[in-house]
Amino acid sequence: MTSAQQPPRSGAAIRLAFLDFYTARGHRLVPSASLVPDDPTVLLTIAGMLPFKPVFLGQKQRPANRATSVQKCIRTNDIENVGRTARHHTFFEMLGNFSFGDYFKEQAICWAWELSTEVFGLDPQRLVASVFREDEEATAIWTGTVGLDPHRVVPMGEAENFWSAGPTGPCGPCSELYYDLQPEKGDEDINLEDDERFIEFYNLVFMESNRNADGILTPLANKNIDTGMGLERMARILQGKPDNYETDLIYPLMAAVAQRSPLENYFAASPDQQTSLKIIADHSRAVTHLVADGVTSSNLGRGYVLRRLIRRAVRHGHLIGIREPFLEPLVDVVVQLMASAYPRLRQREDVVKRELQQEELRFLDTLGRGEKRLGEILMTRPEQISGDQAFELYDTHGFPLELTVEIACEHGLGVDREGFAAAMETQRQQARAAAVNVDPACGGVTESLAAKLGATPFTGYQQLDDESEVVALVVNGAAVQQAHHGNATVQVGLSRTCFYGESGGQVGDRGVLLSTTTSGQAMKMIVEDVQKVDGFVLHKGRLESGVLSLGDVVTARVDRSCRRRAQVHHTATHLLHEALKRVVDPGISQAGSLVDFDRLRFDFNCPRPVTASEMERMESLINGWILDARSLDVSRMSRAEAKTRGAVAMFGEKYGDVVRVVDVPGVSMELCGGTHVNSTAEIGLVRLVAESGVASGVRRIEAVAGPAVLTYIKPRDQACRELGERFKAQPTEIVARVEALQTELKHASKALAASREALALAKAVALIPQARSHGEFQLLVQRLDGVEPAALQTAGQALVDQLGPGAAVVLAGESSPGKVSLVAGFGPQVVARGLKAGALIGALAKGCGGGGGGRPNLAQAGGRQPEKIDAVLTAGRARLAQALGQSPPADPPPQRHTSAKSAGKTPSAG
Ligand code: ALA
Repeated sequence: MTSAQQPPRSGAAIRLAFLDFYTARGHRLVPSASLVPDDPTVLLTIAGMLPFKPVFLGQKQRPANRATSVQKCIRTNDIENVGRTARHHTFFEMLGNFSFGDYFKEQAICWAWELSTEVFGLDPQRLVASVFREDEEATAIWTGTVGLDPHRVVPMGEAENFWSAGPTGPCGPCSELYYDLQPEKGDEDINLEDDERFIEFYNLVFMESNRNADGILTPLANKNIDTGMGLERMARILQGKPDNYETDLIYPLMAAVAQRSPLENYFAASPDQQTSLKIIADHSRAVTHLVADGVTSSNLGRGYVLRRLIRRAVRHGHLIGIREPFLEPLVDVVVQLMASAYPRLRQREDVVKRELQQEELRFLDTLGRGEKRLGEILMTRPEQISGDQAFELYDTHGFPLELTVEIACEHGLGVDREGFAAAMETQRQQARAAAVNVDPACGGVTESLAAKLGATPFTGYQQLDDESEVVALVVNGAAVQQAHHGNATVQVGLSRTCFYGESGGQVGDRGVLLSTTTSGQAMKMIVEDVQKVDGFVLHKGRLESGVLSLGDVVTARVDRSCRRRAQVHHTATHLLHEALKRVVDPGISQAGSLVDFDRLRFDFNCPRPVTASEMERMESLINGWILDARSLDVSRMSRAEAKTRGAVAMFGEKYGDVVRVVDVPGVSMELCGGTHVNSTAEIGLVRLVAESGVASGVRRIEAVAGPAVLTYIKPRDQACRELGERFKAQPTEIVARVEALQTELKHASKALAASREALALAKAVALIPQARSHGEFQLLVQRLDGVEPAALQTAGQALVDQLGPGAAVVLAGESSPGKVSLVAGFGPQVVARGLKAGALIGALAKGCGGGGGGRPNLAQAGGRQPEKIDAVLTAGRARLAQALGQSPPADPPPQRHTSAKSAGKTPSAG
């Protein structure tokens, strides 16, 4: 590239220019890694270097000497700033060039300079470099080799210019390039903290050390280069935009959201509303990529990051007046903007949409409940919403403060924000006072604990009781030393556990934790859920009595019945998977599953519904295997051996080198960490209860197994018995009996309709004397109540036939309570005059709150305001008379003609 060429402008062109520059300089192009890192110590991919961390540490062979990539990243540590500053994001793209023991400081600096000034065309007079205070070498390269004015090389401290991806791992001093947005301020007073003036766009890390848990640095085997350029920031500079959000990378998303909201236009929105639009745009990119990379919403780990981002986006949608779900349609825009760089987005589009739609609806439900509670508070007619009330809404119902403020404001009330802040602070202080030292860089408390304490050894394959030590306690989202009876929910980490933590579709075990303290007080905790974060198991529940402290030794006791019911469903799931392959299609693969205590759900890839007869055949096959009483064989082996033996693995699931194989001899062999029955006979019985589609190409079968079959059958059996008693029939005869009744009912209905029609006709004929002659035309505009729409139409047609070619008939009446039925029928002479029955009846129906139409000679309509019928008939009479060239005839004396149904209620019918 020479300076004669135009600098890139669009985000896509910037990506390409960066990659071209470095591939031309011998760097291997490496595609973006997943947002879910292959590294149990990190929650999400936060930088371009993350996939190369083991390479820097010498744990993995380098892919090449030099590499370059555009890496999708998510950081949530600054989430409060997102949308409020020009440059913060949760999701962003990092352009990077890397050297693994190849080139180092001088080359990295020179190329960064060349790229910035010659390819991106940045004015050298507007560039400033920061360096680590102790890195004289870097300063010398900037001022000497590059020739940067010494005023524009700014030394900084360790906090700013010593970079590492976390508390431990590869690290080194760094040097950052800044762009000066206000060069008129001169070189004298350069303050790189001044966000308005300077924007940092390229970080060069001279990665030469490894930091251990005690903070000690040791030199890495190689001197490496790790760099990162924020794509959004470079786009902002090159596109001359006031912030990253108005670049072509993000603006279309804000425009799309604005269009769905009452704001319509981003630029017409207030600063707060613009912030909401920015947050939604940012989060929509993040959540689309997260789900595409396999994350689903949950209350833990990555799932919680996803859930939080979705909820923040929905809340901001609510704040700017959007009342309908909007995230799913936004996925289209994200895919449109980003699929050329990240083709996986298109493949996963359906999955992403489904997940976002479900989670959004779930949150709207939470909002609904919060609104209900707020409604109750408002009913007490308070002077304002107190801080404690606002905090209760926030803490217990997940209801955001801004919404409380907004709704209170609609009721002319204020919210005690200071009281809210105080309540929040009190809770924080309580949590902080008790908190152990957790590392916030790793995400939430549970993730920090997981990173710190590692995977919990699982003893629950062999035993359902175990003694173990309390190693972590979490109350209200904070790590604490002690939990009490009275804490709403408590999460407990143990040194080892026999409780199965939810994974592989199987729900977590239920049970109790028990202990007796030295004071003799008994502690009992009911375990209501067990979750796993990166292998670390958290037992969640409530303390029924006593106190639980870190270091306590407790007896963990799994509820045997629950465990048995879960494993009955888990083995049944394996049998169902195999039955699908044998009966429906050998190519079927699992797309998801739920193994609960009382049911199972199995999702699989299949382009068509499974037929009823296939369901029956599968059910027989499965129950045959159960009857065979096949003993399960569970063993551990190398992944390679499992593969040779033909064990089925779940696509996209991560397995270690040693895998657990669950073999139902002669039936199925799967890699699985779940708990299973010893013999298929323990399952007893499986009943397939439903088949449905969940997404394009994905079907779902639901089933019950073991004792759950009885629970499923009982209410159905009861209904059958009651029907049998009512119809005096054996259960097997009920269907025939109901069919006979249906036929009988059909005949009776037909007979009733016929006699209603006959009656309507008789009534209609009785109206003939009311017809008025207008020259060659016969006008008959009459009220006829209690006649069904179909019969009214027959009556209208019969009257036209009787009155001859000049007939113009309009009938209207209350066909059933609250319902108006109207009909207009014209003879051929009237139609020849250009009159249309459809047009007339449509206009008249409008007059009584309805609508309708039809052909020029016969038309029908309905309405909902019977009180307007008389007025509408008078209007119709006048319109007809005028259209037929006569002045309207005097109204005939008012008469109400009714069918037998309402006869007797109106005096004129008597
Ligand atoms: N790894 C460095 C950063 O993220 C380049 O800033």
